[in-house]
Amino acid sequence: MHHFSYVGQKLQCEGVELSAIAALHGTPTYVYSAQTIADNYRRLAASLSGLDLRICYAMKANSTLAIVRHFANLGAAFDLVSGGELQRVIAAGGRAQDSVFAGVGKTDAEIRRGLEASVYSFHVESEPELERINHIAGQLGRIAPIAIRINPDVDAQTHAKITTGKSENKFGIPLKFAAEAYAAAAKFPHLRIRGVQMHIGSQLTQVGPFVEAVKKVLPFVLELKRLYGIEYFSVGGGIGIVYQDALASGSAGWWDAKPAGERPLTPEIYGSALKPLLAPLGLRILLEPGRFLVGNAGVLVSRVEYVKRGQGKTFLILDAAMNDLVRPAMYEAYHELVPVVRDTARPALKADIVGPVCESGDCFAKDRVMQEVGEGELVAFMSAGAYGYTMASRYNTRAMPAEVLVSGNRFELVNARESFDSMVAGEKIPGFLQR
Ligand code: LLP
Repeated sequence: MHHFSYVGQKLQCEGVELSAIAALHGTPTYVYSAQTIADNYRRLAASLSGLDLRICYAMKANSTLAIVRHFANLGAAFDLVSGGELQRVIAAGGRAQDSVFAGVGKTDAEIRRGLEASVYSFHVESEPELERINHIAGQLGRIAPIAIRINPDVDAQTHAKITTGKSENKFGIPLKFAAEAYAAAAKFPHLRIRGVQMHIGSQLTQVGPFVEAVKKVLPFVLELKRLYGIEYFSVGGGIGIVYQDALASGSAGWWDAKPAGERPLTPEIYGSALKPLLAPLGLRILLEPGRFLVGNAGVLVSRVEYVKRGQGKTFLILDAAMNDLVRPAMYEAYHELVPVVRDTARPALKADIVGPVCESGDCFAKDRVMQEVGEGELVAFMSAGAYGYTMASRYNTRAMPAEVLVSGNRFELVNARESFDSMVAGEKIPGFLQR
């Protein structure tokens, strides 16, 4: 479920017409639904009710301060992967003390900041990292809480660039070496073993790999509880969302109308498969969802600049480009594209949907069939709330897009479109080039 739908012929986010937002703030602009985020959060929490559950929102999916604050208000903690994300949590009023600090390449400065902010736990990915955290904790006269990320070597059956639980990935420590790594951790005087972590990949659309991974590591988790008295098990993130039929998936009954074999993964399916495995552990369970919480809660609104009729091909040239939403160029990801004002009387158009960036990789979709739209009209990419703005760049000296948060009938600009001055604020012409 999400709160994007046509009211009459106009696409709305909750009670607000997307065209009204575009008129005020221009395009390309990300628009997020606060209600959708809250619904997703509560639904996921409910599907695992009865467990001692802590949801650590994986803020790499969307780390805009307003979104982080919204999650903090909902009661979430955070899964963060850099000193910058930690600063965002603090700046937005989130609880760093309940949050986990992950990432394969934490620097000294990041570890120090994490310790100073008293993060709940560091998710450690290698033995040299154990040593480094121990060293810095010693310097600060602190004890660092840690968990080791174990790699269960399970195929998540997702895109190669976002699978992480196979042994050939750079992530975590293979299960067969994990006991040794924990024994090493136990010897460091400035570390405290607090838990264990795993994550097998992103955009999983089946529950099977989650179940397989949890089952595979369960005996080891129990062993850690016995040996070191660990207090939590983080099962990572990865719950997939609907991209293909994104707009329709917001309407009530859409899931139920699907034949059982074609239903996408839901929190309820996830919860009912995992709860019986996790409950008997008697541990706190951490979840690190990113995409599931924000993915379908955001769209990218863009304007059609040109309709170019080439030889045997039509190109819809938008004012959004790969720098604003890189997922199609980077992962061949599919994002549904819909008109902001629909007109069912118009014929269908088959076109390549492209941006203005100067390379052919700047393509959102090939041979996409959608309602005909003309120059100056607005379109929206669905399911763009996760890994949209956070992966955006300034390529071609294009400003970072604007972001708007909607709640009911209200909307507010939560991140202004970048100005040229702020884009070049850190740049200067050196003295030896002055003339
Ligand atoms: N926990 C860990 C340790 C992770 O590495 C990730 C994502 C998550 C949690 C959250 O996963 P999620 O629930 O969002 O699937 N940029 C890619 C996705 C990269 C995911 C990286 N790690 C994309 O646009 O599809």
